[in-house]
Amino acid sequence: MRAHEAGWAHAEGPKGPSWLRLPADTNELVSHLWSTTATKVDGVLEVGGVALPDLVAEHGSPAYVLDEADFRARAGAFRDAFAAYDVFYAGKAFLSTTTARWVAEEGLCLDVCSGGELTVAERAGFDMSRVGFHGNNKTVAELRRAVRLGVGRVIVDSFSEIERLAAVATELGATARVMIRVTAGVEAHTHEYIATAHEDQKFGFSITSGDAFAAVRQVQDAPGLELLGLHSHIGSQIFDSSGFEVAARRVLALQARVSEELGVTLPEMDLGGGFGIAYTTQDDPSDPAQLATEMTKIVEHECRALGIPEPHLSIEPGRAIVGPAMCTVYEVGTVKPVALDGGAVRTYVSVDGGMSDNIRTALYDADYSCTLASRSSEAPPVLARVVGKHCEAGDIVVKDEFLPADVAPGDLLAVPGTGAYCRSMASNYNHALRPPVIAVRDGATRVVVRRETEDDLLATDVGDEQ
Ligand code: LLP
Repeated sequence: MRAHEAGWAHAEGPKGPSWLRLPADTNELVSHLWSTTATKVDGVLEVGGVALPDLVAEHGSPAYVLDEADFRARAGAFRDAFAAYDVFYAGKAFLSTTTARWVAEEGLCLDVCSGGELTVAERAGFDMSRVGFHGNNKTVAELRRAVRLGVGRVIVDSFSEIERLAAVATELGATARVMIRVTAGVEAHTHEYIATAHEDQKFGFSITSGDAFAAVRQVQDAPGLELLGLHSHIGSQIFDSSGFEVAARRVLALQARVSEELGVTLPEMDLGGGFGIAYTTQDDPSDPAQLATEMTKIVEHECRALGIPEPHLSIEPGRAIVGPAMCTVYEVGTVKPVALDGGAVRTYVSVDGGMSDNIRTALYDADYSCTLASRSSEAPPVLARVVGKHCEAGDIVVKDEFLPADVAPGDLLAVPGTGAYCRSMASNYNHALRPPVIAVRDGATRVVVRRETEDDLLATDVGDEQ
């Protein structure tokens, strides 16, 4: 993939990568990359009826801007399209007490994968019977807490975890409802670090090796555990239902074997999350209705062929609900033209955030786009790279975008599609203060997560107190 010996950063010419189109007008939004209420009025970007310069004047920058109506609409679209399923919102994409409440209000269940996410769900008053608890290395304390709280399902990921969970359930005199995470041997076509159902990785029980069947037996025999079904998550940012098809076929074959050899009908099955979104014009995601039709057809067809009853299905979308619902607004500082090989120039536009609020570009080589958010411009487009303020050359937010040539300090830039895995993977690198999440709706703002302060940073630094 990285054809140029010095890496992708050096591989592109003055036109940028081949997929990047020279815009007819840099003032125009590429609307399908933005949340539904995003619009430009005289060059000023408005989301949820709030002009971003006003939002920044009140709340500062950088800031994540969360379009409440869009989030609810995407959650509702999954709920309606997958009406016969349970839809678990994957909180790892972004979770706060406010969004957990929206998830509940929109009729979705919640997937958490750590004690911390469980705490947010608890604080939000989320109905614990509608929570699924994931993780490949849950601690005994986390398991105990989950069982005590009565979470609806614990998705087990190892033989030792099954033992630990059975011991916890017995100790508490409770029954834990369990799903078994299996690896279906499917390699989803996505970046390697976010493909999770091929065999050589830490998650799940392999179907091929027989571990998944052994896990079913172990759960069946363990005290205090009730087996609900099998769980398969094949990866992230997937556009094509063929990966789900192969996975569903393999998981249902195991389901049939369980029924035949153990005489047990597993009532449920989870097909995981991973539905892709459009970060740039390269991406062409399916809508929930289309996904639902395809996935349901696959399961119906396979169950009929195997002669087993259809399990009650669930899915776990995270990115596809919150990803497009947020954008990040930054203020431009330094603008630096840099000469490239062959005499071309790339304009490096530095903003007041960077890899601490969006690690995805550096970590996954992810592509993003952006637009000038505070004014219109008649200047011609130039190839720009939006970089952060961290002490690292890989601190890039948007690798390639055409911005107006007069982009200048004090301008605001907005990057769409930052709702998933940006705030939730944000760090304090270089002692950066993590930005707030500001919800916008009907012309009003509401702080969902406040900006960190230097006191927050120093709160864990106890050096002075000793
Ligand atoms: N269910 C399970 C069991 C998962 O492991 C995940 C994501 C999801 C559901 C939700 O997947 P989604 O629909 O959001 O793609 N940090 C990476 C993504 C890691 C995903 C981990 N698991 C990124 O920024 O792309």
